[in-house]
Amino acid sequence: MSLKKNVLVLHGSPRKGRNTDHMLETFLEGAEKNELLDIEHVFVPALNIKPCLACFSCKSSGVCPISDDMQPWYKKISDADSIVIGTPVHFNGVPAWLKIFIDRCQPFYYRKFFLKQTIKPKTGYLLACCDEGKAGPFIGVEKTIEAFFYCINASLSKHYYCVLNGKHFNELVTAVDEVRALGNSVFSQLSQ
Ligand SMILES: Cc1cc2nc3c(=O)[nH]c(=O)nc-3n(C[C@H](O)[C@H](O)[C@H](O)COP(=O)(O)O)c2cc1C
Repeated sequence: MSLKKNVLVLHGSPRKGRNTDHMLETFLEGAEKNELLDIEHVFVPALNIKPCLACFSCKSSGVCPISDDMQPWYKKISDADSIVIGTPVHFNGVPAWLKIFIDRCQPFYYRKFFLKQTIKPKTGYLLACCDEGKAGPFIGVEKTIEAFFYCINASLSKHYYCVLNGKHFNELVTAVDEVRALGNSVFSQLSQ
């Protein structure tokens, strides 16, 4: 049995290598070389996944009948000790790609609450960025992620929200330091 902790990192931005990814990289800086952590990245917009059809077949089976790129991730989510989500704000919510991934996790809801299956408890972390600070842009993202985490038996342990105000994340020295420090503290605790 592996003593390593499984960390699943969901990249929610359709723009690879931009603000969201840089936030995640900074958060994970101390973790990537930690031999007690097994880190797996999912670039969610790169997956070929269909939206949930609300067929409710997972209600009795606990599995999704749609055969596509989503299938391997059910086991990986089940096995995870921690989930890290990085996402930009799109219209006060998560981008459509990430929402599709989350909706496809409905089988966990039925496994947990109807089929009474045990789902490994997880710690959850949310990093989000947006352009402007108006209208509480992170509220919608947080509510969606909280509902997702509840379903997969994760708790939202820490979050970091960054308003870019037209800048790139890497230019925001204070934010970079804070995200790095948060990641260091999270992953040193997790690997104890
Ligand atoms: C479709 C779309 C909707 C957006 N909606 C919002 C919004 O509601 N509030 C906001 O502050 N920024 C919004 N933005 C800006 C993004 O949150 C911002 O550009 C973010 O940094 C993008 O992260 P990325 O560099 O990883 O793509 C939106 C951007 C797009 C493309």
